[in-house]
Amino acid sequence: MTAMTVLIIGSGGREHALAIGLSQAPSVGSIHTAPGNAGTATLGTNHQIDAMDIKGLVTLAQEISADLVVVGPEGPLVAGISDRLREIGIPSFGPGAKGAMLEGSKTHANDLMGKLDIPTADSVRLDKYSDIEAFLHGNPPPWVIKRDVLAAGKGVVVTSDIDDASKFISDSIEGDGFVIAEEFLHGEEASLLVLMDESGYVCLPPSQDHKRAREGDEGPNTGGMGAYAPAPIVTPSVLRRAVDEIVEPMHHYLRNQEGPYRGVLYVGLMIDSDGAPRVVEYNVRFGDPETQVTIPLIEGDLGELLLATATGNLSSLSPSFSSSHSATVVLASQGYPESSVTGREISGADLEIDEGVLRGYVHFAGASMISGRLVSSGGRVLATTGIAPDLNGALDVAYQIMDSISLEGSYFRTDIGHRELSRRE
Ligand code: AMP
Ligand code: GLY
Repeated sequence: MTAMTVLIIGSGGREHALAIGLSQAPSVGSIHTAPGNAGTATLGTNHQIDAMDIKGLVTLAQEISADLVVVGPEGPLVAGISDRLREIGIPSFGPGAKGAMLEGSKTHANDLMGKLDIPTADSVRLDKYSDIEAFLHGNPPPWVIKRDVLAAGKGVVVTSDIDDASKFISDSIEGDGFVIAEEFLHGEEASLLVLMDESGYVCLPPSQDHKRAREGDEGPNTGGMGAYAPAPIVTPSVLRRAVDEIVEPMHHYLRNQEGPYRGVLYVGLMIDSDGAPRVVEYNVRFGDPETQVTIPLIEGDLGELLLATATGNLSSLSPSFSSSHSATVVLASQGYPESSVTGREISGADLEIDEGVLRGYVHFAGASMISGRLVSSGGRVLATTGIAPDLNGALDVAYQIMDSISLEGSYFRTDIGHRELSRRE
């Protein structure tokens, strides 16, 4: 087979990580990204087409004769890009619109988990006929309130402040007609990325994200401020339970649906003190920044693996994983996540470490090259990633690279991996 032309859709650190993995795959000849970022530009061709411009992206895939399209974000999946591509015979990594509803609608995901007996939080729907005061006084804090819309991390509020909870509920009902209130799940979170098609599924090494903006898991929720893999909180027995109770029933259901689920199922887990996993959320795409720590641990040809998934042949491969550890630290713009100051010059972001078992590099996200200058263009600007024989080594590399980077007003968390490190003390 001649080397593939791959089109990656998206512009985050996740897409740069996918591009790096694909650029190292013998099966891949050329990489195109739409719209891409400063990182993907160094590995192939960026096309200035928005990730939600489905028609423009499908035309691009035809023009470049793409052998495989890898869809990064959920938006185009929910909008049906994989269905459109499959109709014209182009393999797409990512589910069709129907499968993408697992992320596109929390009501759908909750109903399905109920039907399949998959462990998750109990939930109720509140609308203009509900007695919100009675709900808040009848259920102890913290309250978990979720809008049923794709809101890029802004649709969920977890709070013990009754006024904040009440306001978010009322505003959401006014805007959307209803809102979902969920039981608060206690425990520790982990992310399980599962490659999946109708022929089978493969769990990638579990990782742990850090969703809050500030040290000690304080501050507002973000898209994710750092991650590491593997996450030892997912012990072999937790993984066994997650597979048996969560992944297997969902795979069985999806496999029997019309229009196969071909892509990755991101299972956000809450693991309680007894090691029982429950689902916090499903996403239908790779996580960001989980991808930055997961892709480097996949051994073998990433292009072959993603193509096999996109064509329903995953069970013909048995990928193996490195015994290394990886860690990534996100550099965010001043003001992120509320409002981000962009357009500032980034310097020092070219340090790479390659000392055999120790490796480190930068994953670009909201960073663009403008007239030869590297400039911030988003909330999460970049992530520095380290790969080493143990977690401490991986964190050292990631922070060493981070310390060489300057961007006015930016910030990063200095405690990535703290849960795991404190368990060992
Ligand atoms: P989501 O967008 O559903 O992933 O929610 C964002 C974050 O809110 C999650 O990563 C959790 O930290 C928190 N969260 C969401 N649902 C719950 C829940 N039912 N119990 C506890 N925390 C939750
Ligand atoms: N890092 C969380 C997510 O990708 O949804």
